[in-house]
Amino acid sequence: MSIGKGLFVSFEGGEGAGKSTQIRRLAEALRRHGYDVLVTREPGGSPGAEAVRHVLLSGAAEMFGTRMEAILFAAARSDHVEEVIRPALVRGAVVLCDRFMDSSRVYQGVTGNLEPEFIEALQRVAVNGVVPDCTLILDIPASLGLERARRRGVAVSPTAGPDRFEKERIETHEKRREAYLDIAAADPERCRVIDAQQTEDAIAAEILSIVEQRLPPVTETSSTYPETAQ
Ligand code: TYD
Repeated sequence: MSIGKGLFVSFEGGEGAGKSTQIRRLAEALRRHGYDVLVTREPGGSPGAEAVRHVLLSGAAEMFGTRMEAILFAAARSDHVEEVIRPALVRGAVVLCDRFMDSSRVYQGVTGNLEPEFIEALQRVAVNGVVPDCTLILDIPASLGLERARRRGVAVSPTAGPDRFEKERIETHEKRREAYLDIAAADPERCRVIDAQQTEDAIAAEILSIVEQRLPPVTETSSTYPETAQ
């Protein structure tokens, strides 16, 4: 659904699929073409949602159960949508979001074993009509993605270790991959699956060509939230 004059693109996929690198490259390419680009991420992307992010990724909410976690993800999403995403789309920006509603469907719904009706009810409230125009699913075998995520984690922070969701078993990650492919098959207008085993350049070119077909007319300024995240 189009909100305002902007374009809303979400990036999805398992761990280590290369989302952040590709988001950065697409943002650079679009800015070179003069687009107002907002780069953001979930959970987080607004001050309220970043506060909830810490609770979720540290595992502090895990003991309260998947339902509680799903509601917290939705609370964070609602704040992010209303404070950041909707205003950006209204002003005509291209919004690139690292994870959005499909992550909740996959992580909390499919591998968290929550009923689809519960997840969809939360989503309706959280997104409040702000659905991505285009969702790019970076697809990679779980074992390869986890290995990449592990190496990246060690390089960035040698002592931090995996987060709450990275720690889960390989079968869980493989199930998520399947769940993403199911979402793409059910909503082919919105979703495109990208083979994330291609070279970084090939993936960037494929993504740019998909997004270019949907771009609105050029507007001005750019921003990234949080400034340090990308
Ligand atoms: P993050 O470090 O931002 O990672 P990634 O590089 O994997 O995108 O961690 C976000 C984690 O939160 C990730 O493991 C997926 C999980 N998540 C959910 O479980 N549900 C959600 O709705 C969202 C947005 C993320």
